[in-house]
Amino acid sequence: MSEQKLQSQTVQTTGHAWDGDLQEYNNPLPVWWVYTFYATVIFAIVYWIIYPSWPVGKDWIGGASQISYVNSAGETKTHSWNTRALLLEDLNQAAAEQKPYFDKVSAMSYAQIAKDPEMNGFILSAGKALFADNCAPCHQAGGQGVPGFFPNLADDDWLYGGSFDKIHQTITGGRRGYMPTFNEVLSGEQIDQLAHFVASLSGTEHDGAKATAGRALFQGEAAACYFCHGTDAKGRTEIGAPNLTDNIWLWVDAPAGTGAAAKVGAIRSVIANGVNKGVMPAWGDRLTPEQIKVLTVYVHELGGGQ
Ligand code: HEC
Ligand code: HEC
Repeated sequence: MSEQKLQSQTVQTTGHAWDGDLQEYNNPLPVWWVYTFYATVIFAIVYWIIYPSWPVGKDWIGGASQISYVNSAGETKTHSWNTRALLLEDLNQAAAEQKPYFDKVSAMSYAQIAKDPEMNGFILSAGKALFADNCAPCHQAGGQGVPGFFPNLADDDWLYGGSFDKIHQTITGGRRGYMPTFNEVLSGEQIDQLAHFVASLSGTEHDGAKATAGRALFQGEAAACYFCHGTDAKGRTEIGAPNLTDNIWLWVDAPAGTGAAAKVGAIRSVIANGVNKGVMPAWGDRLTPEQIKVLTVYVHELGGGQ
């Protein structure tokens, strides 16, 4: 007797037959599988009882579990469990935990905050979160900025000043730097001379004769660069005119390593075309006074605050 024949006698078949003799065994399901299946059914029923489950018309069966939360109007609401209310509750809890600190921030002076280690810890974490939400899209996560677009806040070079008061003023009211274009006021030769002079200020390789002529233009009435950048070219923070002697550049966008000629060319192009794209938005209406104060200390601490 063949093995196949033997098995068809010991195991039941479903009784169906295809193609004349093709039959289907009727093996029982393994016991562990059956019990696991029952367990999932029981789990699902318990879950339906506790948590929101089936849709009913435009509503749903809410389940036995309830959650309380305070809505934006300050009323306490109780609702069947849902993740939206859970999130609100979490946010409320976080805000309640931070509130004493924000209250302290508004009561303390900048000097006091800077000296208080506990407050410093708070500023570091709350400031980092506020900065990530509002400022990092432009100034980048570490405040390092993007050359040609957004200034570095993590250095000690400031367009508008790095004191608490100046930073506070910058964040609250915003800033809009403006440097006029010179390509219609000055000749190409003169712009060249000015570029060599500006390069000379920060020790970049330059043409000495052109730089000397450029100095006269810078200090004279024809170009009157001194009017905004100062006679010593160290800048004027009242109008956001940068220091041109420190070899820290925002708008002169020549990648490091491309050499002196590229640097002079980039300086030249800023003088010829001016700068009219430096727009720092105002946050006075968008953030609370405490949040602005936290950010002020955070930015002050990021770089060399003055
Ligand atoms: C009306 C004021 C004003 C005058 C005049 C002026 N500048 Fe400027 N300059 C600025 C301001 C403001 C900025 C920065 C703009 C910003 O940050 O949005 C700037 C930026 C620059 C920069 C770019 C610095 C960087 O960090 O990349 C250079 C270079 C420069 N000026 C050179 C000159 C020279 C040379 C002259 C004279 C031909 C001159 N400026 C005249 C206001 C002025
Ligand atoms: C849309 C882009 C953008 C956003 C968002 C932004 N900034 Fe700025 N910020 C700028 C630009 C551009 C400047 C330079 C303005 C100029 O050149 O006149 C600037 C300048 C500044 C300065 C002055 C730097 C100096 O050297 O004096 C500070 C401080 C500053 N931003 C802080 C912040 C903080 C804090 C936030 C978040 C609340 C923020 N910025 C959000 C674009 C932005």
